[in-house]
Amino acid sequence: MKTRVITISDPEQQEKEIMEAAQLLRSGQVVAFPTETVYGLGANALDAEAVGRIFKAKGRPSDNPLIVHISDISTWHKLVEAIPKKALLLADKFWPGPLTIILKKSKLVPEAVTAGLDTVGVRMPAHPAALKLIELSGVPVAAPSANISGRPSPTSAQHVIEDMNGRIPMILDGGKTEVGVESTVLDMTGSAPMVLRPGGVTVEMLQAAIGQVRIHPNVMRPVQKDEKVRSPGMKYVHYAPKAPVTLVRGELNRQVEFINKEAARLEKEGKRAGILATDQTLSRYQAGIRLSMGDRENPADIAGKLFARLREFDELGVDAILAEGVEEKEEGLAVMNRIARAAGFHIIDL
Ligand code: TXA
Ligand code: MG
Repeated sequence: MKTRVITISDPEQQEKEIMEAAQLLRSGQVVAFPTETVYGLGANALDAEAVGRIFKAKGRPSDNPLIVHISDISTWHKLVEAIPKKALLLADKFWPGPLTIILKKSKLVPEAVTAGLDTVGVRMPAHPAALKLIELSGVPVAAPSANISGRPSPTSAQHVIEDMNGRIPMILDGGKTEVGVESTVLDMTGSAPMVLRPGGVTVEMLQAAIGQVRIHPNVMRPVQKDEKVRSPGMKYVHYAPKAPVTLVRGELNRQVEFINKEAARLEKEGKRAGILATDQTLSRYQAGIRLSMGDRENPADIAGKLFARLREFDELGVDAILAEGVEEKEEGLAVMNRIARAAGFHIIDL
């Protein structure tokens, strides 16, 4: 299949181009599009066959459910059974934006989307091209991140091309995504709202809006054997570059010291170490290939750059990646969740 890449700089001016993508969605095809978090791989959420094409293009396990994207609140009411007050409040405050709310699904949503679960995650993305695409397609759009299953999520159209060229008919190029990590996934079906995946809307922001919010234990530790998962995505390897990743946590000077030693040890073995540092520490490393994931005083900056850096290490062909830890607060929690998962939870605590 030939993949067309269409650059969208102004969604209002380029309605014709977005209409073409919307027609593809309407005819059951898969289209990649920008959102404010990462690029999505969209299909008509009400068409089980179209949704099946997403799983095929990504190589995604069929028991991992998809998020449904909407452009207006009235569609949400049709997709779920009932919407609790706190969920309405959150939607009012954070939509359009990087928050996915899980509720009991209505009969309208096919099981192909929810992987057989009786719940559905819905979000209204903030990117103008995404909103326009959904609006023009006239249907809710199921969309996972537009990467091959297991790889770092795409934060630019170039990343999508790397993974999806030849597999889908069209990619809408909206430039680099703003948030850089995926949406916060909040389960509102239990007794207290629970974050299953930290993301662009931080736990602190959720708590300020609705009070108590729990963080699922699997956010920072792996699923144990025989443990029932709340979100099927938690089971799978994610965000992983080709080289194995080690996440180092603890006092910053000790992190730097440990990573320097480890990088030197790898070099002695004839291996190339990739060091994922921060702006503040980059100059303190001597060995290996060093990249900064951003300003450690500004976790949102790091969130924006993280996935691109992981892909760069792939291109540079390193044998092992040593990643600094950042504070697990605000966007830093999402950053640490993604690095921990890229590391398969191989974490050194100093
Ligand atoms: O920012 C985002 O959310 C991006 C953009 C494209 O919108 N999408 C995205 O989708 O990250 P995906 O499929 O890569 O990740 C969805 C996550 C998975 O971990 C999945 O298991 C979980 O959300 N999820 C989806 N529906 C769920 C449900 N009903 N119950 C529990 N977890 C669910
Ligand atoms: Mg994903």
